[in-house]
Amino acid sequence: MVARELLTDSGSIFVQISDENVHRVRVLLDEVFGEKNFVSEIIFKKKSSTTPTDSVNDFILWYCRSREKLKLRQLYVPRRDPGAGSKMTALVNRTGEVRQRSAYADDEIEGLLAAGAEWARVDYPVVSQHPSKTRSEDFWFQGIPRVCGINKQWRFGLEDGMPRLAKAGRLFSGTGRAVGGIMYWADWNYESFSNIWEDIHSENFPIYVVQTSQRAIERCIMMTTDPGDLVLDPTCGSGTTAAVAEQWGRRWITIDTSRVALALARTRLMAARYPYYLLADSPDGREKEQEVSGRIQSLNPSGSDIRQGFVY
Ligand SMILES: C[S@@+](CC[C@H](N)C(=O)[O-])C[C@H]1O[C@@H](n2cnc3c(N)ncnc32)[C@H](O)[C@@H]1O
Repeated sequence: MVARELLTDSGSIFVQISDENVHRVRVLLDEVFGEKNFVSEIIFKKKSSTTPTDSVNDFILWYCRSREKLKLRQLYVPRRDPGAGSKMTALVNRTGEVRQRSAYADDEIEGLLAAGAEWARVDYPVVSQHPSKTRSEDFWFQGIPRVCGINKQWRFGLEDGMPRLAKAGRLFSGTGRAVGGIMYWADWNYESFSNIWEDIHSENFPIYVVQTSQRAIERCIMMTTDPGDLVLDPTCGSGTTAAVAEQWGRRWITIDTSRVALALARTRLMAARYPYYLLADSPDGREKEQEVSGRIQSLNPSGSDIRQGFVY
């Protein structure tokens, strides 16, 4: 109840708990925060097991102060290869040659990728439904008049969009008069995650018996706060929340009744070393941002406002 009172209107609370008590804590949180402010029950894999009776996960119960005002930042993780079932079934090598994955043996693929080949989808639809007065004509590509099909139209203008795709090497000559769009794996090789977190493991060298995974806390903080926001962990333990908050430029307060825990946390935080980032809202930060991203920066005076984030 105190946590609810302290929480800002757009804030979230995360409670990690095992299967022994998850149902009780969830009922309690429903009572304190209100059912409508339940956000998600995250299933968080902690260990491996092959026995169905041995639970491998904990739960993170996520509630917010107000569902309408919830601050939520979508996170993405990079994916290495297109998995089975992906539409990225072609490989485009450095010379632009396109061949299907099935044309190669597995060890050949590794060699090609190492040499700069890219996964791609070459049948990305460049036509859409319904005929159009201006977009249903034939489109000339590689000396052949391409057809979009009966009752269809090109998705991009015949004067500008389609020629631009062709010039950018984003069109693939299919069989007959068909043409497909080329989409590279590197165009969007990220995925967001669901409420099942299997990629989080416990710390290898814990300094506290019940130490929480740094990655799990990091994810919770990153999903629901911005730099400069304030994070409270009333059960500090070895201080993982504070350490993560410090790392990501969030302010923090942490509390524990145990002197052992506080001593461990203090040592951990005082001895920690963090990478250094420039504030986005500072003259040096703007210069660096322009250098790394090429984006023209504002000429308005900067205010060193941490809430505008960092230059990454
Ligand atoms: C599971 S541990 C937290 C572990 C922590 N997340 C970490 O990564 O190390 C729970 C902590 O809560 C503390 N604690 C238990 N009851 C408390 C209370 N009423 N007020 C403050 N701290 C409490 C315990 O001393 C213990 O250090």
